[in-house]
Amino acid sequence: MVLDKFSLGGQVGVVTGGGQGLGKMFCHAFAEAGADIVVAEINAETGPVTAEEIRAKGRDALFVHTDVRDAVSVQEMVDQAVAKFGKIDFLMNNAGIVQHLAAEEVAVEEWRAVIDVNLTGVFLCCQAVGRHMIARREGRIINIASMSGLIVNIPQSQASYNASKAAVIHLTKSLASEWAPHNIRVNAIAPGYMNTAMAAPFFNDPAYGGVWINAIPMKRPGEPEELGPVAVFLASAASSYMTGETVVVDGGYTIW
Ligand SMILES: NC(=O)c1ccc[n+]([C@@H]2O[C@H](COP(=O)([O-])OP(=O)(O)OC[C@H]3O[C@@H](n4cnc5c(N)ncnc54)[C@H](O)[C@@H]3O)[C@@H](O)[C@H]2O)c1
Repeated sequence: MVLDKFSLGGQVGVVTGGGQGLGKMFCHAFAEAGADIVVAEINAETGPVTAEEIRAKGRDALFVHTDVRDAVSVQEMVDQAVAKFGKIDFLMNNAGIVQHLAAEEVAVEEWRAVIDVNLTGVFLCCQAVGRHMIARREGRIINIASMSGLIVNIPQSQASYNASKAAVIHLTKSLASEWAPHNIRVNAIAPGYMNTAMAAPFFNDPAYGGVWINAIPMKRPGEPEELGPVAVFLASAASSYMTGETVVVDGGYTIW
């Protein structure tokens, strides 16, 4: 039956940055579809709370204090996940940061801070989990890009973020190509403005909010829960012939 293909029953998924915002929602969505969850999060206060919420839902969960910028930390996370659950079926690279800085003023350390989390962090997690998936000859990876990897947002200046997310989209295609022979599918989601701590404050700022809403055909930000079903689709057998693709979920922002 077609809905059976969306089931994640018996599967184990890693979600980076699962302590809050979209990452927390993705943990819940995957758990509701039947998966056990590894919350790989740098925030030692929020990560365990998400793991406890997942256990309260009846699925198993493990919090691993993880810095996606650090290859050693990422490998330790993979080792702990495999020690507890025996396998990782899917990886969601969600951790990300943004800075609003004029390109002519940004310091190299500020530039690197964004690239380190949003691009190098995604690559390090793909590499460490990918090696495990190659050995198992199966796996699915979902990278959280952004519509900012396809268009340039206004009025804010965020060149580092835009460039990092464009790179995530092409990294997704590159890994999909390299790892298709290993039965690993790699796809991305490009959200528009979502109602989380990262974007919500700006909707109340007159310099931003009106411009943003005017640019969205649906005239509202997205709610985090509106991305959950897309993530379950990409993590599950429902998307079995799909790889290297970026699914845009933006209320129509990128059609104008
Ligand atoms: N909110 C939006 O409008 C929006 C739109 C498009 C894309 N995105 C992307 O979605 C993802 C989640 O965004 P959000 O709005 O939930 O952000 P958020 O700031 O609410 O949450 C990000 C999470 O990542 C964690 N994190 C940060 N650095 C980390 C690191 N080095 N290692 C491990 N974890 C780390 C944080 O502790 C936090 O829990 C990001 O990649 C973001 O770029 C967000």
